[in-house]
Amino acid sequence: MAKTGRTQRSKSIYRCQSCGHVEPRWLGKCPECEEWGTLVEELDIGGGKVDDRPPPDVATPVSIAEVEDLEITNRLNCGMEEVDRVLGGGLVPGAFVLLGGDPGVGKSTLLVQMLKGITEEIAGEDGRVLYVSGEESVGQTALRARRVDAVAPGLILLAETNLERILSHAAKLRPHVLAIDSIQTIFSELLDSIPGAVGQVRECAGRLMSYAKASGVPTILVGHVTKDGQIAGPKTLEHVVDAVVYFEGEGGSPYRILRAHKNRFGSTQEMGVFEMRSSGLREVRNPSELFLAERPVGAPGSVVVASAEGSRPILVEVQALVAPPSAGVGRRTSAGVDSNRLALLLAVLAQRANCDVLTEDVFVNVAGGVRVAEPAIDLGIACAVASAARSQAVDARTLVFGELGLAGEVRAVSFADVRLAEASKLGFTRCLLPAQNYERLDQDHGLELVAIDRLATALAKL
Ligand code: TYD
Ligand code: MG
Repeated sequence: MAKTGRTQRSKSIYRCQSCGHVEPRWLGKCPECEEWGTLVEELDIGGGKVDDRPPPDVATPVSIAEVEDLEITNRLNCGMEEVDRVLGGGLVPGAFVLLGGDPGVGKSTLLVQMLKGITEEIAGEDGRVLYVSGEESVGQTALRARRVDAVAPGLILLAETNLERILSHAAKLRPHVLAIDSIQTIFSELLDSIPGAVGQVRECAGRLMSYAKASGVPTILVGHVTKDGQIAGPKTLEHVVDAVVYFEGEGGSPYRILRAHKNRFGSTQEMGVFEMRSSGLREVRNPSELFLAERPVGAPGSVVVASAEGSRPILVEVQALVAPPSAGVGRRTSAGVDSNRLALLLAVLAQRANCDVLTEDVFVNVAGGVRVAEPAIDLGIACAVASAARSQAVDARTLVFGELGLAGEVRAVSFADVRLAEASKLGFTRCLLPAQNYERLDQDHGLELVAIDRLATALAKL
């Protein structure tokens, strides 16, 4: 390993992320393109004499027909089926994985439970995993591990934030897996910026990736999702890593979902469900029951819709309530859906489907505090309002999706198969979907499918 230290400190430069302009100092505004806040610290690696000799060990071009099947064997399982499935069947040698999520959702808990499982899997061969915490002391990490019954002799803890020292420990210890909690707390002494700055996150992740690829040690980075929903350094890490898995949970609910957002070694349609208990995370093997159990089954105004933002399917419950107007005119109150869209859907319901609630108070809410901004939930919202207005409940195992046009027509949406696969996984038995989607499905999902071309037909079928 290359020796690094203050003596060999390289010079930092600040590059504009928008136009590529380079400054020797940080500036708030790029003098070249005049964008604000785009200068990010980097190591100055250029500048010297250009060496045009090819680096040793260069890869050679090869015909695709001659490439042997890359049998991805030797996957490391962590023994938690819900995690292994999301990772595509365990950790591949050299895999570089980002575990993202909101602060407090349970990433450290999941990580320590995974690492314990991995040490158990490889205990026979003197297994060691290195858990580096930049956020907590060794004592705090051990306390949590004890609480969730994740104590194993092969689980080595290190409280360190200095990247160079972490890499030197890893080189000495030669762990089977390296975990960094979290990437935002780690800094390289070669850069001047503080931990968590885009430049630091990028540099540290890059060096850790080189370590993972060169040593073959699967490396897991924990990353906090920042307020605008991105892992620090806007999408900086997502394209560098092999897999991005998000740990999600709604405030107050004990349930957590682990989803692959990107995975070079497996499918991104898998998800794992967990329950956070006082004794740590417990796997939930049958999420459909859990999901349906929280809904008011048989209550009018409740409809499950399938949203697929960025191709990731999420099933959410839309609730509607129709009440006599409290003021002279009907009011609309919506949470989780766009109020203009709701106004439009109510007009379509009144004009095209003979369901007039324009003079009443209408409340629409997406349960769980989720926000959905996709037209595919139009049909579901309209059905929920109609169900509430007519006091007729919609079958609890029926899913609805489709975009509504102003003429009351139901339009096709993207990712129909993805939505249906999720519904089938979650135990739904029936789905109302746009006729155009119905004709172009790729797979059979084992659901009873009802092709819909007009809103009025959908209301009749429900
Ligand atoms: P943590 O793993 O520290 O979250 P993160 O690393 O994502 O910030 O856990 C966060 C919360 O989980 C914490 O507020 C308490 C709760 N928790 C439990 O309910 N049970 C447990 O066994 C543990 C360890 C944590
Ligand atoms: Mg943590």
